[in-house]
Amino acid sequence: MHVTFLLNGETVEVACHPTQTLLDWLREERGLTGTKEGCNEGDCGACSVMVTDDKGARALNACILFLPQLQGKAVRTVEGIAAPDGTLHPVQQAMVDHHGSQCGFCTPGFVVSMATAHLNGRTDHNDVLAGNLCRCTGYTPIVRAAEAAEAAPVPDHMRDVPLLLTPKTPGEAPQETGAAPPAAPETIEDLGNWCIAHPDGTLIAGATDVGLWVTKNFRDLGDVAFLNRCTELQQIVETEERLRIGAGVTMTDVMIAVQPHHPSYAELIRRYGSDQVRNAATIGGNIANGSPIGDNPPALIALGATLHLRRGNETRDLLLEDFFIDYGKQDRNPGEFVEAVSLPKSAPALRCYKLSKRFDQDISAVCGAFNVTIEDGRVIAARIAFGGMAGTPKRAARAEAALVGRPWSFETIQAAAFALEEDFTPLSDMRASASYRMQAAQGQLRRYYSDLTGSATNVLEVQP
Ligand SMILES: Cc1cc2nc3c(=O)[nH]c(=O)nc-3n(C[C@H](O)[C@H](O)[C@H](O)COP(=O)(O)OP(=O)(O)OC[C@H]3O[C@@H](n4cnc5c(N)ncnc54)[C@H](O)[C@@H]3O)c2cc1C
Ligand code: FES
Ligand code: FES
Repeated sequence: MHVTFLLNGETVEVACHPTQTLLDWLREERGLTGTKEGCNEGDCGACSVMVTDDKGARALNACILFLPQLQGKAVRTVEGIAAPDGTLHPVQQAMVDHHGSQCGFCTPGFVVSMATAHLNGRTDHNDVLAGNLCRCTGYTPIVRAAEAAEAAPVPDHMRDVPLLLTPKTPGEAPQETGAAPPAAPETIEDLGNWCIAHPDGTLIAGATDVGLWVTKNFRDLGDVAFLNRCTELQQIVETEERLRIGAGVTMTDVMIAVQPHHPSYAELIRRYGSDQVRNAATIGGNIANGSPIGDNPPALIALGATLHLRRGNETRDLLLEDFFIDYGKQDRNPGEFVEAVSLPKSAPALRCYKLSKRFDQDISAVCGAFNVTIEDGRVIAARIAFGGMAGTPKRAARAEAALVGRPWSFETIQAAAFALEEDFTPLSDMRASASYRMQAAQGQLRRYYSDLTGSATNVLEVQP
């Protein structure tokens, strides 16, 4: 297969295997070894590159980015951050001035993340850099450097125009470079046909899960279809009461879409992987993989979200909670794919709490989402869902029953917290022990009560 894209301003046409990563290609075939391999699983950001397409520029991890995902786009590596005449980019100069590098292994990744944020005018440096790990320098000088570069103008060479936006000369035959590579359906109809023809094939959306099957498990994925050219899957449709989010919408865009309606859900997503991960990961991939510790399902189940599945021209809707049957088993027929998820816009009492060993860039040990309706001091409806407490994301039916019809009081909450012991028998694993998980889930329910009754419950809100 051939893939064509811009690399540091130059058009390259690459013959590649569909699951060859950008990182391997850069280092092994182009000799561009500035992009480092740290973890090879999306965790450290040493491999960060800037990718520009019709939606703008964003930082991505090259280690879990397959070359076909780049068709028609523009890639800028650390070698392309300084100007062609060698003048350092403002963030590079600021890293020098503010002593932002010691061993330097992380530095190329930091510089690319910082230069991408600089281009986009972002100043939320802690969020931007949460996916770049530094073990020597420490973050203070690096953040200082990012701040120092904020006001500097964006160098012209950073404004890449991706190939897919390059105007063709009238009458000129369409360039091969702009054509979709095989198995990259551009419409829902084509995707449906591909799925029916390849019921055992693998769909690749952001590749933040699938990428690791290749880089860590060395799996041959067989027939694959890339979803990133199917723009219909990337739509967000807003009606008066609901949001319908296409399966191909990235977590960055989900966060922006839900922020005005469900700020607590948006805050949960802010701690979902890192900027690089959220820029690639899709909501559909997170639901379809069926992980018991995925962060979207608890929030979406607490919201009563509906999942939209499609097989060819047939569509089917079900409550998201019914999609997760058992560990590794979802209600999805051969040839069926996730098309979208829809959720109510109003749920003022929704709160989502993520508990992980590390605050940023970590998978949840327990993720709880709570959505209770109170009228005249009584609970009239309750939807509570947890991740990390069972083999699937799951509703806490007994705890909900202990709340509904009762006064909204701490005593009622305590009774519901005990009922969680009937709802769940959590496992012990490397993230948490069973008893820790149970106590944490009970604590989250109590926190929810404190939260709704006006106490500061977020460590970031509590001031000394
Ligand atoms: C460093 C790192 C940090 C992470 N942190 C978090 C975190 O904090 N919280 C969290 O929940 N997850 C986290 N993840 C996991 C991952 O990012 C999410 O599960 C992500 O949303 C998966 O989406 P994707 O588009 O990358 O899916 P992919 O990897 O492309 O696909 C995942 C699975 O879904 C299938 N699939 C994809 N789209 C569809 C579709 N439309 N229909 C049917 N099947 C489909 C694929 O075939 C595959 O089986 C992290 C991953 C990494 C690498
Ligand atoms: S090498 Fe660590 S994120 Fe890519
Ligand atoms: S300078 Fe050594 S890891 Fe950051």
